Amino acid sequence: MELKKIISIAEIREKVKELGARIDNDYQGKVLLFVCILKGAYVFMSDLLRELNIPCEIDFMGISSYNNSAETSGVVRLVKDLTFDIQKRDVLIIEDIVDTGLTLDYIVKNLKLRLPKSLKVCVLLDKTDARKVDISLDYVGFKVPNVFLVGYGLDFKEHYRNLPYVASIES
Ligand code: IMP
Ligand code: MG
Repeated sequence: MELKKIISIAEIREKVKELGARIDNDYQGKVLLFVCILKGAYVFMSDLLRELNIPCEIDFMGISSYNNSAETSGVVRLVKDLTFDIQKRDVLIIEDIVDTGLTLDYIVKNLKLRLPKSLKVCVLLDKTDARKVDISLDYVGFKVPNVFLVGYGLDFKEHYRNLPYVASIES
């Protein structure tokens, strides 16, 4: 397995600060509920949260769409539901990466049915070229090439989540 650094620690830190400032500004006067999509987004969310001054709460949703491989199964499965009722809440979904868009499409449709006051999406990485369904993203960190990425929460077969930067991986 060969790792090649794509986004450095410093670049991530700067981008997270920038996104945090925008979110902080956009949600002035509100109490924001962050919905972290497990497992990949937990590192991103924990850094992002610490850039905010507005009051916020967190919850977690577990989704499985990759059967432990680099290939999407195309089947999205809810493996852990939220603990909060999100009706009338301002909700921001935090996701690590959008690839085909199938996972986020499923999540957005699922959460909309619960009637939140507002629902927006924040992703760290956007693989635009891999998109199969159109989905609207409110906050995007980086546009990335259509290669498999690991690190900063993202895994390959559950490994490499602990890398502090984002790298491409090739066998
Ligand atoms: P999508 O449903 O194809 O958009 O895939 C989104 C999900 O697949 C994300 O939540 C990630 O967990 C995972 N994923 C997609 N691309 C990558 C990648 O390059 N590295 C690691 N995980 C990925
Ligand atoms: Mg994920």
